[in-house]
Amino acid sequence: MKKISILLVVSLLVLLGACKEQAGKSPSQSSDAKADVSEMGLNPASDAKGYELMKSKCYICHFERPDPSKRDKMVAPPMLRVQEHYLPNYPDKEEFVQAVMAIVKNPSEENSLMPGAVRKFNLMPKLPYEDDELRLIVEALYNMDFENVSKGAGHESKLTLDNGTKWVVSAQTYKLVQEIDQNLESFSADKIESYNQLGKDVFGKMKFVLMDKSYTGELFDQIHAFFYGIEAKTHTLISEKDLAKAKELVPKLHAEVKIFYDFFQSK
Ligand code: HEC
Repeated sequence: MKKISILLVVSLLVLLGACKEQAGKSPSQSSDAKADVSEMGLNPASDAKGYELMKSKCYICHFERPDPSKRDKMVAPPMLRVQEHYLPNYPDKEEFVQAVMAIVKNPSEENSLMPGAVRKFNLMPKLPYEDDELRLIVEALYNMDFENVSKGAGHESKLTLDNGTKWVVSAQTYKLVQEIDQNLESFSADKIESYNQLGKDVFGKMKFVLMDKSYTGELFDQIHAFFYGIEAKTHTLISEKDLAKAKELVPKLHAEVKIFYDFFQSK
């Protein structure tokens, strides 16, 4: 038992060291890539400490924002992307704090809202953080204003054909996307909860495809690129409170899903 825990601590330290080394080479350490509290729209009185803690504890691995020129140095998704995934699901501050704290304290594929990131970088390691420090960090993350960063900037890849032909995906993937397509096509409900549930169903199927370990390299990047906008809209649908807005969102989501058939074919 003792041996195991020592091993765990040692591997953790090695891991942290490796990440530090990565970060040492990364621009997230240089001042130009890091904005200060006020630039991030943060309140200097209440968020300064959380933001400083985030820089020292989280930016070891996470960049603040995407930087296409440093893509090969990324070991984790930029914090902007983390916020983009969690905020629409948890618009309420306390729920956001609870959800992010929970996943940081116990990262799992099952509860991940970022399946693409899990596939690309592997699951975030479980690291020990003090609850009160973590809360300050996550509250700052909630309040961070990335307004001056264009959404989707520097995102991985653009959807393209594979040398003029469609990418080949498994029959199972093809069927799942068809199901998403059908779910959206025929959908109509009078309760907002049904739309929230639809969002969850779509996200679940999408996550299943993104987690498929048989997709690697460029094919994976293309599947990831396809789901990028869909993922964002799905997160919004899951937490939408306004029935009219949810009703407007579904056809948009559906149109984006339809693009699949132009770029992918079944095995
Ligand atoms: C040792 C490297 C490392 C450190 C340090 C780190 N992260 Fe991560 N984090 C990752 C990786 C890799 C991912 C992508 C895989 C994943 O989502 O699990 C990730 C993903 C996340 C996610 C998304 C989880 C999901 O899948 O839904 C959140 C939230 C997050 N990090 C918050 C934080 C916060 C807050 C800190 C600082 C307290 C932090 N991370 C420090 C590596 C790290």
